[in-house]
Amino acid sequence: MNDKQLVALQAAKYIESGMLIGLGTGSTANYFIEELARRQNDEGLKITTVASSTISAQKAQSLHLPIVALEHINQIDLYVDGADEITPDMTLLKGRGSDLVKEKLLAKAASKFIAVADESKLVTHIGQNFLIPIEVIPFAWQLTKKSLEAIGAHGDLRLNAAKDGFWITSHGSYVLDMKFDASLDAKTLNALINDTPGVVEHGIFHDLTDAVFIAANGVVTERWA
Ligand code: 5RP
Repeated sequence: MNDKQLVALQAAKYIESGMLIGLGTGSTANYFIEELARRQNDEGLKITTVASSTISAQKAQSLHLPIVALEHINQIDLYVDGADEITPDMTLLKGRGSDLVKEKLLAKAASKFIAVADESKLVTHIGQNFLIPIEVIPFAWQLTKKSLEAIGAHGDLRLNAAKDGFWITSHGSYVLDMKFDASLDAKTLNALINDTPGVVEHGIFHDLTDAVFIAANGVVTERWA
């Protein structure tokens, strides 16, 4: 069993019958979805799920997990998702794909949000290994980019896979992949980007995690806020 699978199985121990559970996106979240389905089948667990992306919804459906649409919920019991970076204060960087809008809504709506990852995701500061993905309203991208540059960021619009146009997220936004001054802490960065007109959502998940579970060489460490 690899570390991503191990950590996902550990998070699945917090599932109880009757829960409404948010499904994350990515390879670690996929292991969690598979374990949910296994427990539903083997133990008769009664759960309902809500997905953070089309890909997770499809996976849940293929495994016969009951699923409700995000627009029909106002609170969930548990959300489990992976991350691209995790800092010592449990801030996450997410959204390497295009699903951070729903991911952040579910993280906020959850009574418990457990971030799960292998140790390769641990960093000292946000933006250490990846650019910060910032979803912007398409018609605002130039003005938003200029505002972000005014606070010291640099970067550009993400291109599509064929590199012949701009990347469009699941919700019709463009993505600016931006680098900020490494001395800015996650709280400040989060507030600065939140205050920028034209921003739909961004990949910094500050003050949202209740726990971070990290697997390293077959051992899972749980850290609760
Ligand atoms: C998607 C995410 C993923 O959770 C993140 O990219 C981690 O993916 P993986 O579990 O495949 O390493 O934020 O938006």
